Amino acid sequence: MSAQILDGKVLAAKLKEDLSKEIASLKHPPRIVSIAFGRETASQSYISSQQKTAASLGVHYVLQVLDEHWPLPKVIDVIEKINADSLVHGIIVNKPVPASMDFYVLINAIAQGKDIEGMNMANLGALMMNKSLLWPCTPSAALELLKSSGISLAGKTAVIVGRSEIVGKPMALLLLKEHMTVTVCHSRTVDLKGHLKSADVVVAAIGKPLFIQGDWIKPGAAVIDIGINQHEGKIVGDVDFDSAKERAGYITPVPGGVGPVTSVMLMKNAVEACKGGS
Ligand SMILES: NC(=O)c1ccc[n+]([C@@H]2O[C@H](COP(=O)([O-])OP(=O)(O)OC[C@H]3O[C@@H](n4cnc5c(N)ncnc54)[C@H](OP(=O)(O)O)[C@@H]3O)[C@@H](O)[C@H]2O)c1
Repeated sequence: MSAQILDGKVLAAKLKEDLSKEIASLKHPPRIVSIAFGRETASQSYISSQQKTAASLGVHYVLQVLDEHWPLPKVIDVIEKINADSLVHGIIVNKPVPASMDFYVLINAIAQGKDIEGMNMANLGALMMNKSLLWPCTPSAALELLKSSGISLAGKTAVIVGRSEIVGKPMALLLLKEHMTVTVCHSRTVDLKGHLKSADVVVAAIGKPLFIQGDWIKPGAAVIDIGINQHEGKIVGDVDFDSAKERAGYITPVPGGVGPVTSVMLMKNAVEACKGGS
């Protein structure tokens, strides 16, 4: 059996089509400010993908590059000024942030309604209470891809490998919202393979190239690979795609799976923020 590929580029194009219609119906297009530290940032490719996606949708995008030597209060002051600017709907803080600053302190300074990455405490808390409008982009991209397979999720089992605050944990909340029975595994999990062998859905968010092997996967399962790793000069996921595609029913490729959909989810959140603020 060879799995059906869940193509992120195709899904992203479809989602963008729907989103551009929604943006056209708004009084004003969303406006985003994206903050980065220093010109040479490791998140340059994420920033260019934000810029490209914004431009293709007619979302107004401004990159604000701050001096990485600024003290924390000066950076917080910049964020608070943007919070108070009613013409701006969304704020992004790009990693890496200067070593002297805590990323979470910065994102928690963003007003809840402008946190379009859906990562600050207010939005994650709201997600926990099933009240959030701004979901974290990567887990929501993973969910969109899973839904695009057409399989019914309610009552099925999901194993998420990884428990980070921005990927694994919110992913668990999103799948619970879909009425799945969710297990979250991590580096201290005993018998990961044992958990995976009965999972109808596997979500990998580990950060280890080609870690999950095909024969660990239940035949016919849907496999969503969030990992992005440099490996022997190529970008690969956390799942050994070649062996996993022979067992799985559905699988996302890396690159070209979760990544392209994530940028669209960011713009979807910008639209929500814009609607909330207008
Ligand atoms: N596609 C996208 O848009 C997107 C966005 C964000 C991240 N990513 C990628 O997703 C991956 C995960 O990112 P992250 O930020 O969540 O990483 P992270 O913060 O480093 O978390 C990795 C998680 O994997 C777990 N883990 C590590 N080794 C393991 C093992 N041998 N067995 C089971 N679990 C293990 C860790 O467990 P412990 O908690 O016990 O340490 C941790 O919970 C990375 O490759 C990253 O580049 C992709």
